[in-house]
Amino acid sequence: MSHAPILVTGGAGYIGSHVVLQLREQGERVIVLDNLSTGFADAVIGAELVVGEVGDSALVEALLRQHGIDTVMHFAARTIVPESVADPLRYYGNNTCATRNLLGACQLVSVKHVVFSSTAAVYGIPGAGRAAECDATQPINPYGSSKLMSEWMLRDLSAATPLRHVALRYFNVAGCDRAGRVGQSTEKATLLVKVAAEAALGIRPHVAIFGTDYPTADGTGVRDYIHVEDLASAHLAALHYLRAGGESVTLNAGYGHGYSVREVLSAMSRALGSAVPFVEQPRRAGDPPELVAECSRIQQVLGWKPALDDLDLICASALQWERTLLARRGA
Ligand code: UD1
Repeated sequence: MSHAPILVTGGAGYIGSHVVLQLREQGERVIVLDNLSTGFADAVIGAELVVGEVGDSALVEALLRQHGIDTVMHFAARTIVPESVADPLRYYGNNTCATRNLLGACQLVSVKHVVFSSTAAVYGIPGAGRAAECDATQPINPYGSSKLMSEWMLRDLSAATPLRHVALRYFNVAGCDRAGRVGQSTEKATLLVKVAAEAALGIRPHVAIFGTDYPTADGTGVRDYIHVEDLASAHLAALHYLRAGGESVTLNAGYGHGYSVREVLSAMSRALGSAVPFVEQPRRAGDPPELVAECSRIQQVLGWKPALDDLDLICASALQWERTLLARRGA
């Protein structure tokens, strides 16, 4: 049976573009809505790209009606934590208010399913370094708050109407499409694996290790790094779950074990074949020592199984993409 097309907001961005590829590989029809503020048109492969705002209810309603869309995957958001601290209203506008408008259009045309891109940042700093879905949500920055407010809107809309949703709380997403078609192209990257890949290729002089005195095995911060292709496949599992009648649910997306900053740098050095330069610096404000997912629930509920739980593979794919970017820029 052929399904209606899927609207993917933010499909020109890092995670959205990987999901679009997998949807297309499964024969789904896809319409991407992206304002290209941080995304790239050439990252949209095999889908129609509509350049516009997610918060433009009239545009979204028209798209939903025109294509008979009953499923929306919502990635479009700003995601840089320090930027959210400096300019909170921009984050509440772009992430929370725009999501409210999108959901308003979804309600008007009776969209059935929403898959929402949430974040581990909703937990803030969990006690034992591990976060389960039932734990308290106490975001410590506007980025996390803006996403949590969107989760609440979805929860309440799902309770009040037939709409059902899956919210996925991402841990540390890293790596790139192994076939090299799309990757993380964000300028002025701050996420560790991307920064390490840039330092490996001399795009920046070194990686700064933010803090070597944490109460962790080697003194550096520990995170749960999930390969972006595994994260993308979790979205497809969520889609199948909703189509099969699954109830609304919020799920952690991670592997359930962590690596330190030093372990990431070692893996990137192995991918490079020589040592990635680093300097040691004081802790970065707001960083928890350890943040790892309790992740049995996503496997039980969605039947999703990670296939790429391998830090070396994550770093190698990130490095390969960084080389592709360099070549494209003619460097
Ligand atoms: C950050 C956000 C998080 C968000 C996630 C994805 C903060 C505090 N957290 O996660 O809310 O969900 O991005 O957008 O901003 N590190 C270095 N040197 C670097 C970069 C990072 O040592 O140049 C360390 C950090 O201290 C941390 C680990 O590497 O221990 C991972 O950091 P990063 O990749 O920035 O992600 P998070 O801060 O975990």
